[in-house]
Amino acid sequence: MSNDKPDSVTNPAAKLWGGRFSEATDAFVERFTASVTFDQRMALEDIQGSLAHAQMLSEVGVLSGDEYHQIADGLKEIAVEIEAGDFPWSVQLEDVHMNIEARLTERIGATGKKLHTGRSRNDQVATDIRLWLRGRIDRIGAELTRLQTGLVDLAEREADTIMPGFTHLQSAQPVTFGHHLLAWNAMLSRDFERLMDCRKRVNRSPLGAAALAGTSYPIDRARTAELLGFDAPTENSLDSVSDRDFAIEFCAFTALLLTHLSRASEELVLWASSQFDFIDLPDRFCTGSSIMPQKKNPDVPELVRGKTGRVNGHLIALLTLMKSQPLAYNKDNQEDKEPLFDAADTALDCLRAFADMVPALKAKKENMLAAAAKGFSTATDLADYLVRKGIAFRDAHEIVGQSVSFAIEQQKDLAELSLEQLQQFSADIGADVFEVLTLEGSVAARNHIGGTAPDQVRAACAQARMQIEGRH
Ligand code: ARG
Repeated sequence: MSNDKPDSVTNPAAKLWGGRFSEATDAFVERFTASVTFDQRMALEDIQGSLAHAQMLSEVGVLSGDEYHQIADGLKEIAVEIEAGDFPWSVQLEDVHMNIEARLTERIGATGKKLHTGRSRNDQVATDIRLWLRGRIDRIGAELTRLQTGLVDLAEREADTIMPGFTHLQSAQPVTFGHHLLAWNAMLSRDFERLMDCRKRVNRSPLGAAALAGTSYPIDRARTAELLGFDAPTENSLDSVSDRDFAIEFCAFTALLLTHLSRASEELVLWASSQFDFIDLPDRFCTGSSIMPQKKNPDVPELVRGKTGRVNGHLIALLTLMKSQPLAYNKDNQEDKEPLFDAADTALDCLRAFADMVPALKAKKENMLAAAAKGFSTATDLADYLVRKGIAFRDAHEIVGQSVSFAIEQQKDLAELSLEQLQQFSADIGADVFEVLTLEGSVAARNHIGGTAPDQVRAACAQARMQIEGRH
């Protein structure tokens, strides 16, 4: 079963570019080369670009005022038709650009044929992608901000909650849960900066580059750039129609963002397990098992972790797409859209999942505290205590190592040893040692910028909030 019509059934004159062709396009080739099934997502941006182009053409006298108004009215009606889902998309018309242009002529007559004056689909498509991507960047930025706001609020609520900090996934030193959450926020802040940096390079207008060399009409590129809200026109016409580095940068952003969300997901999955049992993920973010009645699976973080592979793939797809293309436009570039669209959709969905889920996380504080108390997590504090008593750090390290080894034999934690037992390893240990062996004392002592002390976490939350609110 295939959709193929018999070859060459279409009339070459039906194509907008049919003039020099004597034979109709092969039906398979028509389908193979068409992009309308996916690039129709940029239909409204295509119309926006056409409106600006037509307005500029009328301002410089290439179109009359009357022609411009006919074109603008026709395009606006087409936009309504598209939004209502009534537009007759046709694969024979190849892509979104030619579908809309042909429809315009169908609706307003011969004047519609003037719209393409002084431009090419090459600068048109580059403009559409940039407009579409800019819109997505702004939505993604807003969702990232929503996630960060929820994260910082949670961090503040959990500023005093003690949990084990890990290196090598082995209990290392106690930290506060708020501090851990702010580590996620720090990653996301850099992602936001990267996104905004990428936006600067996306937000330039390639319109006027035409097919590759520019156009002989007296166009005003700065005017179309201004009408479309771009910061400025792009520079070189050959580069303008060919490079997709702005899309690659965006995919690099999504790959890093998802890498960060995936790391956080991995932690959520671990913490939700009965072995860790640090958090409760609300039921609405989990699913059950069809065979094991007891199960509550953390599907949402697992899926976010899994989707990282897909956006990483899109980044590689675009890099590979670009790598051997000679200047200027090549049809290869039609392959840029599906990876780019999917990278943007995936990033937005994953951010939404996280922004909804994070504020609903419940910390199981007693379990976190009990886990932090295990594993000799205050051993470094004991070494630092000995240093304050005048012992060199390397000697202190050795003394604490012996104490830990003794405690393991006794099946006790350091704080559970008696003063006499501790003094076997150093006569400098006094009764005040038990203050530093507590978890609260340990975290409170790390009281400097970037440290885990509850006061520092609260200060860092205030700082993070100012930074987030400084975004417009
Ligand atoms: N559908 C094409 C794309 O996505 C539009 C540009 C086509 N240009 C051309 N010269 N065939 O890239």
